[in-house]
Amino acid sequence: MAAASHRNDPTTDPSIHDLIAGRPWLRYHAMDGLLLDGVPLAAIADAVATPTWVYSAATMRARCRALTAAMTETALDVSTHYAVKANDSLAVLALFAAEAVGADVVSGGELLKARQAGIPASRIVYSGIGKSAAELRLALAHDVGQINVESAEELAMLSALAAADGITARVALRINPDVDAATNDKIATGRATDKFGIAHHEAAALYAQAASLPGIRPVGLATHIGSQILDLAPYRDAFARIAGLAQTLRRNGLAVETVDCGGGLGIAYRNEPAVSPTALAAAMKAAFHNLDLRLAIEPGRWLVGPAGVLLASVVLVKRTAQQPFVVLDAAMNDLVRPAMYDAWHGIVPLSATDALAPPRPATVVGPVCETGDTFARNRALPPLAGNACVAILDAGAYGAVMSSTYNARPLAAEVWVDAERWSVIRDRQPIEALWQRDRLPP
Ligand code: LLP
Repeated sequence: MAAASHRNDPTTDPSIHDLIAGRPWLRYHAMDGLLLDGVPLAAIADAVATPTWVYSAATMRARCRALTAAMTETALDVSTHYAVKANDSLAVLALFAAEAVGADVVSGGELLKARQAGIPASRIVYSGIGKSAAELRLALAHDVGQINVESAEELAMLSALAAADGITARVALRINPDVDAATNDKIATGRATDKFGIAHHEAAALYAQAASLPGIRPVGLATHIGSQILDLAPYRDAFARIAGLAQTLRRNGLAVETVDCGGGLGIAYRNEPAVSPTALAAAMKAAFHNLDLRLAIEPGRWLVGPAGVLLASVVLVKRTAQQPFVVLDAAMNDLVRPAMYDAWHGIVPLSATDALAPPRPATVVGPVCETGDTFARNRALPPLAGNACVAILDAGAYGAVMSSTYNARPLAAEVWVDAERWSVIRDRQPIEALWQRDRLPP
């Protein structure tokens, strides 16, 4: 499947009406415009200015509960570890802590943020191919639930560090199952040529070695084949390979207690068909039901992506011989996904009147000095005047976390909507912060 592209086809793109209808936390009010969980987004834009990220706590909570329910239905023992990288705001992490969800972390920083937000260390899984010695020591000091090891080299490093401190690390080997998740090339992680995981054919020997190493207790296997996966088949293939490997290891007399199935569940940015948590749970059940294992998942995007919008104002509309350029005050430094992955995000006006006006093709860009700073090409949008506000949809995952200050643009504010009230959960970065870390050389 080709990666979703921001090069639009207005004949197949969902309309503004379809986009809103598919996202019940959003709704137009004739006077107040677009509401998120009942709160007028225009009021937030007026008070906090733009660009600003806004998150629906209720949507994150509801998605978390739906995912957990789908896993519970299988009658298997499945724990959820939210992939912190998708959105690492403390408010988000605290929400998942309150839902008794664990965390999947990939750096010392994420580990400390998860702990700061109240996620118990025992519910933390630490993934990643390049954990430094300092980060491994931190993970050992916090006694995190599980460390997913991705290479023989990392295993040796961890063994030495743990043994030196007289402790034993619970380790899963992350296996590269050599399956193509059919997602964007840059976020597929389960092919033999990708940097992730231990090659399937080397796994049995390394697992046996792990069992004999000081400071290491191998507890199971892990895999993660990619992100924004919209097809169940690669999951099925990967799970079958992991299940087969678990059986081989057991035949070899090695204990396998747990399998971490990774994250990757895609969302319907373009209202396209996606894999439901129920379907994922069924695939897990089919592969693992007779193996008496504890299972884990590491979803990020599915839990938070749809729950967020990026509010932006139209700076001006530049008329040219081609399509008009709608220039926003948000840019690729805020939301990099369209520039980086050709990702498609819905864009809707905040004004209910604007939303009803007949659409015409436009190109939506930011002010950054790169042609790649384009949110959408050939997008059917109602005519938008300067100062009109828009919401860029499904920006709750891999949005604010991937922002930079490129072009000396401060990081945008982040706002939380819960129970029809809103509050700022991350202040807009003050402009002075852009040079606070700088020193003039002597
Ligand atoms: N577990 C591991 C080991 C991962 O590397 C990832 C994501 C996840 C779980 C969570 O995957 P999710 O459920 O969110 O798909 N910046 C890209 C996505 C990068 C994903 C990296 N790894 C984007 O904006 O599409």
